[in-house]
Amino acid sequence: MPKVTFILRDKTEKTVEFESGKLPYDGHGLPESFLDVAMHCGIALEHACGGSCACTTCHLVIRQGMQNLSEMEDNEADRLDTAWDLTTASRLGCQAVIKGDVVAEFPMYTRNYVQEGGAIQLGQPEPSTPAASSPEPEPAGSRK
Ligand code: FES
Repeated sequence: MPKVTFILRDKTEKTVEFESGKLPYDGHGLPESFLDVAMHCGIALEHACGGSCACTTCHLVIRQGMQNLSEMEDNEADRLDTAWDLTTASRLGCQAVIKGDVVAEFPMYTRNYVQEGGAIQLGQPEPSTPAASSPEPEPAGSRK
């Protein structure tokens, strides 16, 4: 029965356990991934893309138990390259499947490309915003 400790952004810890192979799957990332476990246990792990390895909002830093996780696939490694504050212990919460005891820390920030424009836009300039317009002055005598 894997024990999973999440270190939240405020540095509080939440530890949960689940029985391997018995966690009902609700479509949150890979079955028995950090995201899947977090959603079942009421832990708010961001997942802007719904757990499809298309963002980095589920980025976690593994503090203990890296050997108890699934091997990283190429698509996860490629996506992780765009994560804020990437470390050698980083994994995507929706892709890393838990096979034993592990401790994972939420990074201080994540990049949410979904909110920042709907797509990965690294290296592209920000779209220009229209200049603020000032209201037309009211004609004299129109005020009440
Ligand atoms: S939730 Fe988007 S990559 Fe994990």
